[in-house]
Amino acid sequence: MKAQTSETTQVPLSAGLAGVTAGSTAICTVGKEGVGLTYRGYSIEDLAQHSTFEEVAYLLIYGQLPNTTQLNEYKELLQTGQALSPAICSILEQIPKTAHPMDVLRTACSALGCIEPENISLGSAYSKKMASRLMPFCISALLYWYNFSGQQKKINVNTQEKTLAGHFLHLLQGKTPEPEQRRALDVSLILYAEHEFNASTFAARVCVSTETDFYSPIVAAIATLSGPLHGGANEAAYQLISQFKDPAAAEIGLREKLNNKVLIMGFGHRVYKHEDPRSPIIKEWARKLSLHKKDETLFKVAERIEQVMMEEKHLFPNLDFYSALVYHYLGIPTIFFTPLFVVSRISGWSAHIFEQRANNKLIRPLAEYTGPASRNYVALDKRT
Ligand SMILES: CC(C)(COP(=O)(O)OP(=O)(O)OC[C@H]1O[C@@H](n2cnc3c(N)ncnc32)[C@H](O)[C@@H]1OP(=O)(O)O)[C@@H](O)C(=O)NCCC(=O)NCCS
Repeated sequence: MKAQTSETTQVPLSAGLAGVTAGSTAICTVGKEGVGLTYRGYSIEDLAQHSTFEEVAYLLIYGQLPNTTQLNEYKELLQTGQALSPAICSILEQIPKTAHPMDVLRTACSALGCIEPENISLGSAYSKKMASRLMPFCISALLYWYNFSGQQKKINVNTQEKTLAGHFLHLLQGKTPEPEQRRALDVSLILYAEHEFNASTFAARVCVSTETDFYSPIVAAIATLSGPLHGGANEAAYQLISQFKDPAAAEIGLREKLNNKVLIMGFGHRVYKHEDPRSPIIKEWARKLSLHKKDETLFKVAERIEQVMMEEKHLFPNLDFYSALVYHYLGIPTIFFTPLFVVSRISGWSAHIFEQRANNKLIRPLAEYTGPASRNYVALDKRT
């Protein structure tokens, strides 16, 4: 057989596409010159300090910060997304208690795509509303399933809460949440909202580049986010921190893990080289909540882990490390840590889905072949 020639220009192979520019985006910059994170030009520090998650979601999906009227209308739209149809409730009721909530969300979004499919002929304004409503939908679906599978309780998922953080905490606690708790979760949602061509966003862009509906890339992104090297790291980070009773035990335990070449979850990053700019922001919230709860042990354990990781590996905590503590202090069950990442990141994924659609080119890279050389076919009765 003659070797096939390719007319495509070959670029050197990079494991995991590290350092490869795989497309362009106007949504976000990650680690430009090694540090920093911006959403549509605004620094993450400004957004986390002055903004709310609803403003950030609007910014990502619509391209600009909303004015007061736009924000109020947007919050009303989000409130309408809290409702679950009887068809969705009945699907959620079939999912066993033993399922991971990430799988529940993946299934719920996929089911919604069958029951209320995207109607592309209605245009992008309609699709952007649908994308926004998916965030409160996910919170409602998660808490409905949690209560039904655990206690056979069919909860009312409609709250009067005007924010996603409030809606989640209200359904979890069964009452109006404290303002400080609400704001801590709100800031964490801002920090999780968008991160350029990370694995789940890239999966979403690959999927939608084949001209799918809106729900398919969301399902692909949720599936991709669930692994411990990506979104699942916040759950794994809490399991790490909570296994130590005090900072001294943490130091001994951590050095032992490093000697055994164990990967420490919540540390390191593919793009950032010196610091994850989101980490100091969420760490401050973890400190604040630990003081208010008068329960600083785990915070001190986490700080000692951070210190040992810097001494031994020159690695810094990423967003997932102290987020795990914030969620713990908010009384959020560990299994909900990564699903909260989904709720927030739907805003970033949606922005990328619409950006990819606006200037689409099928994403189809090349592979370096490492298999056997060309050989003759062996008939079934001649094989040993
Ligand atoms: C995020 C991550 C996948 C980036 O990986 P990457 O860019 O492929 O970097 P590498 O895996 O090549 O790591 C480079 C070196 O640092 C080490 N390293 C990186 N992260 C580490 C960690 N969290 N714990 C211990 N060692 C780590 C690697 O073992 C490797 O060491 P080596 O050169 O001696 O083999 C990686 O840091 C990681 O797995 N972190 C833990 C999971 C996590 O927190 N994910 C959330 C990311 S926001």
